[in-house]
Formats: sequence, structure tokens, C-alpha cells
Amino acid sequence: MRITLMISKWIAIAFVMVFAACGSEAPDGAALVAEKGCVACHGEKGGAIAPIYPHLNGQYETYLRLQLTAYRSGKRVNAIMNGMAADLSDEDIATLAAHYGK
Ligand code: HEC
Repeated sequence: MRITLMISKWIAIAFVMVFAACGSEAPDGAALVAEKGCVACHGEKGGAIAPIYPHLNGQYETYLRLQLTAYRSGKRVNAIMNGMAADLSDEDIATLAAHYGK
């Protein structure tokens, strides 16, 4: 009886862990652009808030991912974007590019 209880407890814990892992595999792009502050210039959906900022909507996802990687490494130089991209992980960049790009 006690063993059955323990086993069902472990099965329940395993289910919770699987659900948690599923959640982290589908990151929310809309939440990330707000959290990272991208919305301040590029808007929620990639329509820039002023003409001095580029629109990101309509760009290819791959192009956006390559640009963010280049800003992060310093290969592409821009004072604002080098700072914005400095702490982004590969996963962040993939999520941001998928959110804004097509
Ligand atoms: C303070 C305003 C500002 C913020 C905040 C900002 N950006 Fe930018 N972004 C710019 C400017 C200005 C450029 C153009 C820089 C250049 O000429 O290289 C740019 C360029 C880009 C480009 C390249 C566009 C192209 O057509 O090549 C991408 C991609 C990009 N930003 C993504 C992001 C993401 C993702 C975030 C959030 C992590 C972010 N930006 C936050 C101002 C901003």
C-alpha cells in the first residue's frame, strides 16, 4: 500500500515536470519583447514607433536572427542595438526573431 502511494506520487511529480518542460519549450514572444524593452522602439508587432527606428515586421525571421546575433557579437555596430542585444541568449534571439519576423 505504502509503495503504491509512493509510486503514484512519483508519477504525479513526473507529470508536473513534463508540463513545466512543455511550457518552457514554447516561449512567448509577445511577453519577451515587452520584458526586453524592444517595444519601446520597434512596437509590439514590429511597427516602429518613430521613423528613426526600423520596422521589423515583414522581415524574414532568419534575417532578424542574423542581425541580432551580429549586434550581440559586435560584428554589426550600433550603440543602441549592441547594448540591447548584449545579454540575449540564443533562445531569446530565436524567440524575438520568430515574433517579429515572417
Ligand atoms: C531605444 C530604441 C531601441 C530599442 C529599445 C531596441 N531597438 Fe532594435 N533598433 C534600434 C535602432 C535605432 C536600429 C537601427 C540600428 C542600425 O542602424 O544598425 C535597430 C535595429 C534593429 C534590428 C535590425 C533591423 C534591420 O532592418 O536590419 C533588429 C533585428 C532589432 N533592432 C531588434 C531589436 C530587438 C529584438 C530589441 C529588443 C531586445 C530591440 N531591437 C530594441 C532601436 C532600438
